[in-house]
Amino acid sequence: MTDDVTGAPPPAYGYLDIDADTARSASRIYWDDAAAEYQAEHGEFLGDSDFCWSPEGLRESDLRLLGEVAGRTVLEVGCGGAQCARWLRGQGARVVAFDLSSGQLAQARAYAASTGVDVPLVQADAMALPFADASVDVACSAFGAVPFVADSAAVMREVARVLRPGGRWVFSTTHPFVWCLPDDPDDNGLRVYHSYFDRRAYTEHDDQGRAVYTETHRTIGDRVREIVAAGLVLHDIIEPEWPAGQDRTWGQWGPRRGEYVPSTSIFVTSRPPAR
Ligand SMILES: C[S@@+](CC[C@H](N)C(=O)[O-])C[C@H]1O[C@@H](n2cnc3c(N)ncnc32)[C@H](O)[C@@H]1O
Repeated sequence: MTDDVTGAPPPAYGYLDIDADTARSASRIYWDDAAAEYQAEHGEFLGDSDFCWSPEGLRESDLRLLGEVAGRTVLEVGCGGAQCARWLRGQGARVVAFDLSSGQLAQARAYAASTGVDVPLVQADAMALPFADASVDVACSAFGAVPFVADSAAVMREVARVLRPGGRWVFSTTHPFVWCLPDDPDDNGLRVYHSYFDRRAYTEHDDQGRAVYTETHRTIGDRVREIVAAGLVLHDIIEPEWPAGQDRTWGQWGPRRGEYVPSTSIFVTSRPPAR
């Protein structure tokens, strides 16, 4: 998100009610264009075959939120460069990774070539998964799709549909609280300046008025309701504190603001077991 008070060059932006097609198209445009730069900026921190949940640097190798993955079929949602999928493959999982953006999937193929670790990649929209009912054991996402779609309830329903009974769905996304704050990791980012209750999407437009970037918002209660409405069980919401000694900033994530408020939330859910 670009802030209107930090001095960053102002794009044509605003908070709008957007439909699913507009959000999908904006995300395609943005992530196709940004993929190479995103990987150049964050690739080393993410690790080419590692599972990093968030800019705080939380790793699945430490948290083990997905449970045992060896021998399980795991779906990575909004995989970007598919770093997480390659780590899961190294843990013995059967992995399928998908993303909306052909630019991001091209980066994932380049990583496959450089690491020698290949995982099946699919181009798909998280709101309409091209996978059979009850076909995966575990689904996961590190900031993939959920912060960008117009209808995250549809993503919850789709993931619940493709999960086998008893399967886990764990996803990280922007912490709902930071919707109120300027997009700044420092002191300026510690001011409430926008309504937490405004569910309209932050949207940037190009000169032709085309939406070219969008981020969407749900309150913490909205997230819980969407998970429950999809028939999933919510086990935990992790709100990571900023780790001591981690100086690296990532957009609005950083040690200064991180001392006071969480910027990431990780939702740990599962589909109930069959009776
Ligand atoms: C912040 S990146 C995260 C990528 C990767 N998980 C990581 O940690 O680097 C967000 C990703 O979500 C993808 N994305 C956005 N909207 C999507 C959608 N509707 N369906 C699938 N992927 C989507 C983007 O293309 C992008 O690769």
